[in-house]
Amino acid sequence: MTAVGIDAMEIWTGKLKLDLAETFAPAQGDDPGKYTKGLGLHASSFPDVYEDIVTMAANAAHRLMERKGLEPEDIGRIDVATESSFDNSKPVSTYVAGCLEQVYDGDFHHANKGERKFACISGTQSLDDAYNWIRAGRNRGRAAIVIATDTALYARDDPGEATQGAGAVAMLVDEEPSLVELSTEQGFGSADETDFLKPNQQFPSVDGKRSVNVYLARMREALDDFASQVGDIHPDDYPLIPFHTPFPGMVRKAAALGYRHIIRGTDVEDLVAEEIGHQPMREDFESDDEFRDAIREYTDALTETERYQDWYADTIDPTLEISREVGNWYTGSVHIARAAGLKHARENGRELDGQQLLVASYGSGAQAEVHAETVVPGWEEEIAQLNIDEQNRKRYDLSFEEYEQIHDVHNHDTEADVEEFTAPESEFVFDGWGRMGERKYRYVE
Ligand code: CAA
Repeated sequence: MTAVGIDAMEIWTGKLKLDLAETFAPAQGDDPGKYTKGLGLHASSFPDVYEDIVTMAANAAHRLMERKGLEPEDIGRIDVATESSFDNSKPVSTYVAGCLEQVYDGDFHHANKGERKFACISGTQSLDDAYNWIRAGRNRGRAAIVIATDTALYARDDPGEATQGAGAVAMLVDEEPSLVELSTEQGFGSADETDFLKPNQQFPSVDGKRSVNVYLARMREALDDFASQVGDIHPDDYPLIPFHTPFPGMVRKAAALGYRHIIRGTDVEDLVAEEIGHQPMREDFESDDEFRDAIREYTDALTETERYQDWYADTIDPTLEISREVGNWYTGSVHIARAAGLKHARENGRELDGQQLLVASYGSGAQAEVHAETVVPGWEEEIAQLNIDEQNRKRYDLSFEEYEQIHDVHNHDTEADVEEFTAPESEFVFDGWGRMGERKYRYVE
């Protein structure tokens, strides 16, 4: 079977930065440690006045096409995943194609375009769509561009405000990929939940604390379902595990749960048992509450062991390095976690050819998905092309007053006349409104 997977990727961050410890925490009257240690975030990215989900998506896709030497006729599909869409009918992918057609001679008139919605997991679902399309042999030798783009804003003073972010990830899905090969085994955990939703409103209604528990519950189900497909899994099977990362503190909780789950019945459980005993079993407790307390105690003790901490430092922590600096990108978040892990591995000389990543996606509402991907030779050259560190360094550092202004600029219910903070260069920008209320874009040389 020909390998199908992610051939290349590009990341585009919003060009403004809100420093959480230096700028946000003092204005909120909070201890900076709540953000840097508790949530695990240093900063959030925001779009400048002339940026939005379309410009970020089109700029990421343009870089991808330029770097891979692609023309529009090489692309048979453009899928955009977002939960920040501004139109209930016309998909963002049509705007993105319109932008790209401004800078290429050819067009995307024979490419299939769409928009996927299922909160943050829709980026991964769009990868599935592209994979299935190629596997089914309907691609006519062409590749797919999958873009995850979001402006993850919360209402002012919502507890989620500290986890905001904005950016896009563009991925090229093709045969014989140069980054990772996708596999057919997947595990799902899915239920009708009201943890985070946007019923015809821009900013989400969030039950923050519950959303954390729903994430963990669906992830546990997805892991079980995945194990039922591939058989026993062992922590040593996966050198990196990128999770959906609304904030790194969430992944800290998910990783502990995942590790406890994966080591059950393995030699690793026996080894840690010498220090902290074996995992509690339901039949040893009279009530669910007692069992839950015992599990919590065991998990806390597990995370204190050297074995767990070494595993976390190698397998999880590297995947959080970009997220820490840019915040939640919703649909793009698990994909920047994959990129961060691979980038860290390259920079530290880790050999990953032929090894598997376990990728754990999540979308509120709610669904988790777990699958394995194989890292393929050539990944180092691909990942070396990412310039996200440089983009992050160049971001304009907002004062709190400027942050308030830019939040208003991107609030659909607020009129705000604010000067741009950065100067666009070689990129697509928002250029006002058309006669039918559509957004217009142009390329700035
Ligand atoms: N030093 C160190 N740590 C501190 C601290 C300090 N000074 N002050 C607080 N902390 C710790 C807290 O103990 C807590 O850690 P634990 O959870 O490990 O106990 C952490 O910092 C956060 O503090 P709070 O729980 O008090 O924070 P909060 O209630 O104000 O906000 C939140 C937390 C509810 C998750 C909020 O960020 C939120 O609503 N976020 C949006 C929803 C979200 O992201 N949910 C995640 C799952 S849903 C999902 O993943 C989909 C998605 O993308 C949205």
